[in-house]
Amino acid sequence: MPENLSQNTHQHGREQTQASAAHVAQHPIIPRERLQFKLDADDIPTYWMGGDAFQSRFWDALSIIFPPGEKYFMNCVRDYRDQITDPKLLQDIKDFNRQEAQHSMVHRQDNDRLRKQGVDVDRWGAYVDNMLNKEYRGKYSKAYNLAVTSALEHFTSIIAHSLFDKRDVMKAAHPHVRAMYAWHAIEEVEHKGVAYDVMEDYAKVGYLMRVWALVHATFMFPATIFTIQRALFIHDGFSAWQRAKLMAKGMVWLFKPGGLLQPMLKAYWTYYKPGYHPWQETEQPGYEHWLAAFNASGDPLKASEQTRSAMALV
Ligand SMILES: [Fe+2]
Ligand SMILES: [Fe+2]
Repeated sequence: MPENLSQNTHQHGREQTQASAAHVAQHPIIPRERLQFKLDADDIPTYWMGGDAFQSRFWDALSIIFPPGEKYFMNCVRDYRDQITDPKLLQDIKDFNRQEAQHSMVHRQDNDRLRKQGVDVDRWGAYVDNMLNKEYRGKYSKAYNLAVTSALEHFTSIIAHSLFDKRDVMKAAHPHVRAMYAWHAIEEVEHKGVAYDVMEDYAKVGYLMRVWALVHATFMFPATIFTIQRALFIHDGFSAWQRAKLMAKGMVWLFKPGGLLQPMLKAYWTYYKPGYHPWQETEQPGYEHWLAAFNASGDPLKASEQTRSAMALV
């Protein structure tokens, strides 16, 4: 077993995890700060995903969700920090927080791009902030909120897996926005076990609450994306009929064989298995390429494009 994997296993129930995850390397969590994505470049079109309104606005809705969403993740993990004595997990939480804080900062820069288009970013950011950080945190227990966090982290890590695989979902994207998502994906994969470890070992969330939170997140997350995406379409001037057509076409893109979501389904279902742990998931395609390219230049734009070349995605 790799040394870093054995270091990262915590208390109960991990023998099974270690046995089944032994082939998956766990990556160190490395916060990368002050990165430049040039998201204010004038040549980024509104429909930066090859002119596709549905796809561009789908990712834009996600970008609006991230700052309040990641604040919620950090809040829910912090609820347990005082109970944790394991120095490795404490360091992981620190690095998790630093990574999520950077993601929020860069997505705010991306959201400034939307603001320049006249999008009411603050309204929709506040909508998500209110739902998660006020309503959920006021209404549900700390343990359940952490279970929702862990479920949402499962979504971000399985979406991350799609970025560099052979479907090449970012093929038509503007390189600057694509580089932001590539970096975010790499770091989501690095810290994908942190909220889960705190949930299992300190919040003592059992199987039923864990899977119920995933069912909850399975409805809440897409509903939130589509609510904001609809608002973006209305802002763009699409009529109800045009929006219906865009959504119908978009659903095909999401669910068709080789679409964004369909290949994620297998990874999605693994979360329902008793004894599941995020490190049982398969390796992030392109991780080593991205890391080598980024470490060589410190430039996330170069890292993204060089990973694409190395993976024959260009
Ligand atoms: Fe993130
Ligand atoms: Fe995350």
